[in-house]
Amino acid sequence: MTGLSDSFQRPINYLRISVTDRCNLRCIYCMPENGVKLMQHQDILTYEEINIVVQAAAQMGINKVRITGGEPLVRLDLPRLVAMLAQIDSIDDISLTTNGTMLGGCAAELKSAGLKRVNISLDTLNPDRFEFITRGRSLADVLEGIEVARSVGLEPVKINMVVMAGINDDEVLDFAARTIDDGWHVRFIEYMPVVTGGVVVPPTVPVSEVRKRLESMGVLESCLPAVGNGPARYFRFPQASGTIGFITPVSEHFCFQCNRLRLTADGKLRPCLLAEDEIDLRQPLRDGISLNGLKELIKEAVARKPRGHQLSNGYRLQGRPFSQVGG
Ligand code: 5AD
Ligand code: SF4
Repeated sequence: MTGLSDSFQRPINYLRISVTDRCNLRCIYCMPENGVKLMQHQDILTYEEINIVVQAAAQMGINKVRITGGEPLVRLDLPRLVAMLAQIDSIDDISLTTNGTMLGGCAAELKSAGLKRVNISLDTLNPDRFEFITRGRSLADVLEGIEVARSVGLEPVKINMVVMAGINDDEVLDFAARTIDDGWHVRFIEYMPVVTGGVVVPPTVPVSEVRKRLESMGVLESCLPAVGNGPARYFRFPQASGTIGFITPVSEHFCFQCNRLRLTADGKLRPCLLAEDEIDLRQPLRDGISLNGLKELIKEAVARKPRGHQLSNGYRLQGRPFSQVGG
């Protein structure tokens, strides 16, 4: 296998797969209260079609996949897709990003299907605030989902908190305390103010500010990630079994080490989260394209990866909301 690399010599080995644009929550910064226009059922790739894309990608050097949404667990029988992808020889890491509300009931089945680990999006530990941020009522379900995921070995479970000024930034110390008290792996993510169309756009809290506040709790020692090679930088408090990660898409962009492609639920390969460019795979798949043909399209998507995003130049997503691209 030769492996893929783009025009800026970045090795590309990671595919994020959005399996649905639907979600059972309506986070204020992600979706307008009444939701967004949804894709039609027939527009969404079947598990068989996704499997063919991943087979082609795997032959080109993709060895990690992550399943995202919307909320991936609202799609029927997700373990079936996981089991299919787990059969592909060179795919050695299958992970899932979820809001955790439906995880408790299916974590064991996902694990036995071949899922390795989960990231859970959780922005508050306060039930009333959870209701405000997500317009849903299920904080207890998320906390249970976290525990069940850990107990069945979907580890390390990473908790992703998007830090938003005036909304939840007063909770960063509570999240950090969980790395000591409960061994959580918490990642603080800068809010990217790129979304438009009826959503709340809170000011970004720079990670440097979060870090300063955490340092009031103790010395943060730099450490290696528990697993993975994503964009986070990791630290821990000396007495903690869990870790703290910082993801800084805004203040310090990490495009120079980007290793990923995205597949949208409706079958477009997207070279970059923050650029509108997409290559359609769905029609070619439905027209019976060969595996080699698909590989050519994947190669083209890699070649079209931009050097980096334009957030600092005021870039806003014009086309799709985040919930369609998989975050
Ligand atoms: N900025 C940063 N993170 C975001 N997410 C959704 N929208 C944004 C944004 N504008 C996060 C979700 C989840 C992940 C998939 O993306 O909270 O953790
Ligand atoms: Fe759903 Fe995640 Fe968007 Fe919240 S942020 S509405 S959980 S897709």
